[in-house]
Amino acid sequence: MTEHTIIRRAVYPGSFDPVTFGHLDIITRAAQSVDELIIGVLENRAKIALFSVEERVNMLKIITKDIPNVKVESFHGLSVDFVREQEAGFIVRGLRAITDFDYELQMAQTNRIMAPKVDTIFFATNLEYAYLSSTTVKEVASYGGDITKFVPEIVAEAVIAKYQ
Ligand code: PNS
Repeated sequence: MTEHTIIRRAVYPGSFDPVTFGHLDIITRAAQSVDELIIGVLENRAKIALFSVEERVNMLKIITKDIPNVKVESFHGLSVDFVREQEAGFIVRGLRAITDFDYELQMAQTNRIMAPKVDTIFFATNLEYAYLSSTTVKEVASYGGDITKFVPEIVAEAVIAKYQ
C-alpha cells in the first residue's frame, strides 16, 4: 500500500457480556467488508457485568484469533471518542429485529451529531441468530440450561463457571 492508500477502519463497540454467535457473525462479516475492524469492549462502571472487561477482551481475542484484520481493545466513555482515538471512520452495529431499530437509530443519530465524519454501518444479523442476546444466554445458564448452541465453547465454559 502507498502512503496515500485510504484504510477503511471500523469500530464495533459493545458490551459483549458475553460474546455470542450473533456477535461473531457480525464480526466475521464486518471484517470482510473493511480493512481493519477494532472491537471496542465497553468498560461500563454503571452496569454490573458478569465478566470483567479483561475477561471479555480475552474471550474475544481467543475467538477472533484466526481473523487477521481484527483487533480487540477495551474503552470507557463515549464510543465516538474511542472511534476518533482509533482513527476509524465507521461504527459497526448489528440489527437483529425491529425492536433494536429505535435504540440503534437514536444512538447512530446522536453519534453522528457528535462526530459528523463517523458513519454507522448496520449489518442485519443472520436469521439463525436473530433471537439471540447476551442477556438470554446468561438467563439460560443461570438455570443450568445448555448454552452451547448460543456461544463458542470457551465462552460457554466461562459462563457456566460463573454460575457454579
Ligand atoms: O452491546 P451493547 O450493550 O448493545 O452496546 C451498547 C454500546 C456500548 C454500543 C453503547 O452503550 C455505547 O456506545 N456506550 C458508550 C457511551 C456512548 O457513546 N453512548 C452513545 C450515545 S447515545
